[in-house]
Amino acid sequence: MSTQDFAAWMGQIQSRTETALDRVLPPAHIAPQRLHTAMRYAVLGGGKRVRPLLVHAAGRVAGAAPERLDRAACAVELIHAYSLVHDDMPCMDDDSLRRGKPTVHVQFDEATALLVGDALQSLAFQVLAADLAAEDAAGRVAMLHLLAQAAGSRGMAGGQALDLANVGQSLSPEDLEFMHVRKTGALIRAAVLLGAHCGDGADAAVLERLDHYARAAGLLFQVVDDILDCSASTATLGKTAGKDQLHDKPTYASLLGLAQAREFAAELHARARESLADLGDRAQGLAELTDFIARREF
Ligand code: IPE
Ligand code: IPE
Ligand code: MG
Ligand code: MG
Ligand code: MG
Repeated sequence: MSTQDFAAWMGQIQSRTETALDRVLPPAHIAPQRLHTAMRYAVLGGGKRVRPLLVHAAGRVAGAAPERLDRAACAVELIHAYSLVHDDMPCMDDDSLRRGKPTVHVQFDEATALLVGDALQSLAFQVLAADLAAEDAAGRVAMLHLLAQAAGSRGMAGGQALDLANVGQSLSPEDLEFMHVRKTGALIRAAVLLGAHCGDGADAAVLERLDHYARAAGLLFQVVDDILDCSASTATLGKTAGKDQLHDKPTYASLLGLAQAREFAAELHARARESLADLGDRAQGLAELTDFIARREF
């Protein structure tokens, strides 16, 4: 896949994801209108859609049909959007800007933001439980289990709890990795594995390779987020820059310094790429996407 082909593929997946999300979200004119309007505000018209892109790229490895991948892509993006809405609330990171727009609790109110998160999470599982998501019921249950684990107290929500508990602490590299792997890595890993589960072309060995890949890519994603928080501008990020230092959050940038954090990101990038080596041409999209995650500027 050439760089040009990859850019076109990325645009195409982002656009079909937008359409799929628009379809699964309740229309704004249906009661309760304010909640539905806020859910749509939180999800539509923004974001890089990295997790849907990972679903589709991993799905290619497993020979999955794009229509099926859309379901998994929506489910994981809905959980991600919910996590952002709650992450931005005053009781968490207290942010007022997200994806270049006022955050949900600023645009609406705190109670609405709380409920938007709740409802998006339920919708994610509803979408995945529908019969389009996998051929048989056992396949759907496996996917539901995977996403539930990734979102829960031993995944994203648990990582977020540690993030709050660790404010002002200086963490060991092991503890920082433990937190990052959960708060961000778990959902990235779920995206890759859900994509692979949508097809029947991934045997145990391929799944093992993809899992190895996803763990490196998931940690890489948050290390880059930490670096960008203290090196990019608010205008470029579409969210307030410099918040980690302001809130005394332990990050890879604060633990290692910017230069060494960048070296660690390069190491994870190489580790992720290496995990794909045995998968051949069908993993080309995933490889390009890994480069995008490592080199992104927002
Ligand atoms: C931001 O995620 C929050 C993290 C988990 C680091 P993204 O950088 O994927 O945010 P969007 O979806 O593109 O807005
Ligand atoms: C967020 O991490 C991880 C989530 C589960 C949402 P951050 O707090 O660093 O994400 P940003 O920087 O606000 O996007
Ligand atoms: Mg946070
Ligand atoms: Mg935050
Ligand atoms: Mg951040």
